[in-house]
Amino acid sequence: MDESSKPLRPSRSPSTQLIHHPYTPPEGFASPATPVAKGSTIFFPSMEAVRQRDWAFKTTYTYGLHGTPTSFVLEERLAALEGAKHCILAPSGLAALNMVNLALLKPGGRVLLPDNVYGPNKYFAEHFLQSYGIEHAVYDPLDAQDLAQKLTPNTQLVWLEAAGSVTLEFPDLQGLIRVCNQAKVPCALDNTWGAGLAFSPFDLRDQDGCALQLDISVHALTKYPSGGGDVLMGSVCTQNPELHKTLKRCHMQLGFGVGMNDVEAILRALPSIELRYTAQDRSAQQLARFLAQHPAVAQVRHPALPCSPGHVYWQRLCGHKPHSQAAGLVSFFPHASWSDAQVDAFCEALQWFKIGYSWGGPVSLVMAYDLRGDRDLAVSMESAPSKRLLRLCIGLENPDDLQADLAQALETIHRQANAS
Ligand SMILES: Cc1ncc(COP(=O)(O)O)c(C=O)c1O
Repeated sequence: MDESSKPLRPSRSPSTQLIHHPYTPPEGFASPATPVAKGSTIFFPSMEAVRQRDWAFKTTYTYGLHGTPTSFVLEERLAALEGAKHCILAPSGLAALNMVNLALLKPGGRVLLPDNVYGPNKYFAEHFLQSYGIEHAVYDPLDAQDLAQKLTPNTQLVWLEAAGSVTLEFPDLQGLIRVCNQAKVPCALDNTWGAGLAFSPFDLRDQDGCALQLDISVHALTKYPSGGGDVLMGSVCTQNPELHKTLKRCHMQLGFGVGMNDVEAILRALPSIELRYTAQDRSAQQLARFLAQHPAVAQVRHPALPCSPGHVYWQRLCGHKPHSQAAGLVSFFPHASWSDAQVDAFCEALQWFKIGYSWGGPVSLVMAYDLRGDRDLAVSMESAPSKRLLRLCIGLENPDDLQADLAQALETIHRQANAS
């Protein structure tokens, strides 16, 4: 018997599952790596085979755009990570989000988005979908009743995101999904923050233990699955074969191909995703606690801090494992006395944190945001002590080094403020 085909005892550990995910290598060539199979053209043995092969499912190959043996393995492993049945790859996380928008929304329809949704998703609704006759509205992610009130008979899709982008409020995810299920409206989660590790998106229950149905989970693989800060890719996972086929048809029409070398890079990084996620989570929680007691800081946003909006919802969903789970992101509002120039100076005074977008890579990052114009609901700004916010993405450096770096940059700003 080939090493790879021995029957496996089931494991609930994401690392064990991903490292030992079933894969049949070429005869006599079992190794830790999945070979890179490239091809736009795929040869058919006969015209009958052309007629028989179905591009929508992973039973056969038809054309490189619809998948190769390498991309099928990544799709299967991502489906296993998220607890889904089907997965489709897209060239970026944003492409994956918009594939869902374009597959599910029709003229005359309506899409609802949380106010703290990933910015380009909101921008797409405001500036593109509107011109195709699709309206949108934003809801308060901390208030399931607000979502219920904004649902109309023409609502075709509800977006969810946990935690919200940049400001990291943790939504009442179970309450929001229950509202969608009761109204029979499809709901899609941007699950980049949870990464299939902080909670199981397709195995959610409400407080009475009743099963909740998430329809779609989107993941920017650019972040944790890639882990290197060097690959762009996204995925769309589902349970329902009909929904998968609708999405796959849209994927085909959009021509969303991915490069097999990039797929291989993500396959190489996946076995360590849980270790990296846990390490970055622990460092982020240490730095969140450090910032929370610093006098130059007005408010820290990290769902594990009781002062962070939605902390109770995070605790309900992610706080039950031996170590509560959160991504390695921390945001903070500096003291209201900080000028815009001081916010910039803080970013530039950091030594180990580089100024840059994205997260999930080895290098810690800082980015300053101006929330004016990014939030539509007054309620989103009520708990914000100022309009400027700094987001830290924690990498794999030693957390004590990162803490010392934050301390020296905060001291630099403090000294400048006293001198002026
Ligand atoms: C929450 C979230 N979703 C989606 C994306 C988009 O991913 P990509 O950069 O791969 O397009 C990002 C990127 O920052 C993100 O933060």
